[in-house]
Amino acid sequence: MDRRSILPAALALLFFASTARSSDFDVTKYGASGGAGSDITQGLVGAWKEACAATNASKLLVPAGTYVLREVLLEGPCNSSIEFQVDGTLQAPADPAQIKTDGWVTFQNVDLFTLSGKGTFDGQGKAAWAKNDCTKKKDCAALPTNLRFNFVTNSIVKDITSLDSKYFHVNVLGGKNFTLQHVNIIAPGDSPNTDGIHIGRSNGVNIIDAGIKTGDDCISLGDGSQQINITGVTCGPGHGISVGSLGKYKAEEPVAGIYVKNCTITGTMNGVRIKTWPASPAGHATDMHFEDITLDNVGTPVLIDQQYCPWNQCNAQAPSLIKLSNVSFRRIQGTSSTQVAVKLACSSGCPCDQVEVSDIDITYTGAEGPATSDCSNVKPTLSGKQNPAICANATGSTVAQ
Ligand SMILES: *[C@@H]1O[C@H](CO)[C@@H](O)[C@H](O)[C@H]1NC(C)=O
Ligand SMILES: *[C@@H]1O[C@H](CO)[C@@H](O)[C@H](O)[C@H]1NC(C)=O
Ligand SMILES: *[C@@H]1O[C@H](CO)[C@@H](O)[C@H](O)[C@H]1NC(C)=O
Ligand SMILES: *[C@@H]1O[C@H](CO)[C@@H](O)[C@H](O)[C@H]1NC(C)=O
Ligand SMILES: *[C@@H]1O[C@H](CO)[C@@H](O)[C@H](O)[C@H]1NC(C)=O
Ligand SMILES: *[C@@H]1O[C@H](CO)[C@@H](O)[C@H](O)[C@H]1NC(C)=O
Ligand SMILES: *[C@@H]1O[C@H](CO)[C@@H](O)[C@H](O)[C@H]1NC(C)=O
Repeated sequence: MDRRSILPAALALLFFASTARSSDFDVTKYGASGGAGSDITQGLVGAWKEACAATNASKLLVPAGTYVLREVLLEGPCNSSIEFQVDGTLQAPADPAQIKTDGWVTFQNVDLFTLSGKGTFDGQGKAAWAKNDCTKKKDCAALPTNLRFNFVTNSIVKDITSLDSKYFHVNVLGGKNFTLQHVNIIAPGDSPNTDGIHIGRSNGVNIIDAGIKTGDDCISLGDGSQQINITGVTCGPGHGISVGSLGKYKAEEPVAGIYVKNCTITGTMNGVRIKTWPASPAGHATDMHFEDITLDNVGTPVLIDQQYCPWNQCNAQAPSLIKLSNVSFRRIQGTSSTQVAVKLACSSGCPCDQVEVSDIDITYTGAEGPATSDCSNVKPTLSGKQNPAICANATGSTVAQ
């Protein structure tokens, strides 16, 4: 054995020693699974069931290679913690009709779960994007999200890649103490409704060091998002990092405690924004803080839009009744691709309260002239650098004279 083969041999030994534990499963060899290139759906479902019943920690593994995975629901509660390590590429059926629910791979009611590995969940979304009719219809045909985490608690998702989802890439619903770390999300900038990570009705979610290139919001925080930390995210192409949209439906839950920090946003339609629908039921969103944001060629980098009404799906005459309060934008710098770099369009029905804008340095180099801001129904507290001048020409009832 020459020196170069000692290390791989030692690693292989370690690998076999660790996979030999009775609570570990190579999903691609489990049950009727057929190894490289095969459909591993049955193997994964069977291995999950056994792992979930085990009273010791278990590990499921998909080694390098490409495998077919049909729609799966991996459910708890389980008797012990489970790690699912994906090093290979899992391919969804390309035809959306082959997925009957709103998720391709759904994890539900699981505690102490880890999804890890350098592998890829390939949603094969291209054919589905052509059928996406959400720009034409209010209630458009449901397409599946690549990865759904429903009521998953005390859990970590790290390193994996979500590619070309048919719809949202990752959806977290009812999560508690849930961390997404160093996750990669990739889809073309023109793929419809491919939001990167959507969070709703969850408390205590961290998104750390994610790289997101997609066709809709890189991150969107829906109703009931509370205590959410987003740090070290790179976003673009996409539509930026958004709170909302809020107020489209009845009985939405409040949003509180959103911290977006140290993010880099490049070539997106918007930067950091809060969006609520006009004519909404009453509600509130509070304690939302955006800081240390670097922008490169971003449309409307700082945006509060309480008249969010894409494709004229609403009564834009009636004001939004979602009250926004305790919002700050601090240390935001870089370049804008539109002249209005800061737009704070708060609701005439319930003006924004306690908005702070501090140390903004955004340049625009278009022919119309330098960057501007545009404000209504808000009287922000200003400090530090202001480029552009913030709310110099604002209107509305609570605006400074
Ligand atoms: C947990 O373990 C118990 C006892 O071994 C077993 O009866 C039960 O089915 C297990 N639970 C799950 C979800 O498999
Ligand atoms: C499960 O855990 C117990 C206690 O930690 C240990 O004695 C036992 O060997 C483990 N069983 C397996 C199958 O790993
Ligand atoms: C949060 O989840 C992590 C990862 O599973 C776990 O180690 C930690 O103990 C949990 N924190 C609390 C407060 O339960
Ligand atoms: C978010 O970050 C803050 C400051 O680092 C920390 O105190 C808080 O616990 C974090 N929240 C979560 C949900 O981990
Ligand atoms: C900011 O985010 C980048 C990733 O975009 C990371 O490399 C860096 O360590 C972060 N800095 C701080 C101070 O967290
Ligand atoms: C605003 O939000 C910050 C951060 O969550 C919080 O510490 C502070 O108490 C809030 N201020 C008010 C007046 O609610
Ligand atoms: C503020 O100025 C901008 C740019 O000069 C302009 O487009 C906008 O309509 C003005 N807003 C108000 C409320 O006058």
